[in-house]
Amino acid sequence: MANVIVWFRPFGWPPARVRYEYPTYSAAQVAAGEALYRVTCSACHGPAGEGDAAAEVPALDGSMHAWHHADSLFARYIREGGVYMPAVAPEWSDEQVTAVLAYVKQWWEPRQRAYQHEVSEANPATP
Ligand code: HEC
Repeated sequence: MANVIVWFRPFGWPPARVRYEYPTYSAAQVAAGEALYRVTCSACHGPAGEGDAAAEVPALDGSMHAWHHADSLFARYIREGGVYMPAVAPEWSDEQVTAVLAYVKQWWEPRQRAYQHEVSEANPATP
């Protein structure tokens, strides 16, 4: 990865930065991800990723802590399930996982995307 210089503000977490670094995705990836999300995730996590508090399904938008999780954790939850979440798509390719991530990340602010990018770099793909 390219070396980048980042400036931190002294207060607040995650630290606000002058410049945020994170990967972007093509419109085609986002569109494919939206279609996959609607079929595979929205029944539980809500059509706009808002979650379902009554059913104890966390939001995937920026309001909770989905953006604290690495891409590899998303992949594992999707293919193998979580604590209470079932394995919803064990057969998904990396491209399909990436597409759904491209769509979900649209709900996150730049600072959240930048933070999650660092977490993803630090936690590369799980088997
Ligand atoms: C049958 C309902 C259901 C479906 C469908 C479902 N999930 Fe979940 N998901 C849950 C529940 C319940 C949790 C919280 C408990 C847990 O961690 O297992 C969860 C947790 C998660 C988490 C961790 C969130 C956090 O903040 O800790 C991620 C990421 C996630 N789901 C992604 C997805 C994605 C992406 C899809 C679609 C590909 C999906 N889920 C489909 C029920 C579901």
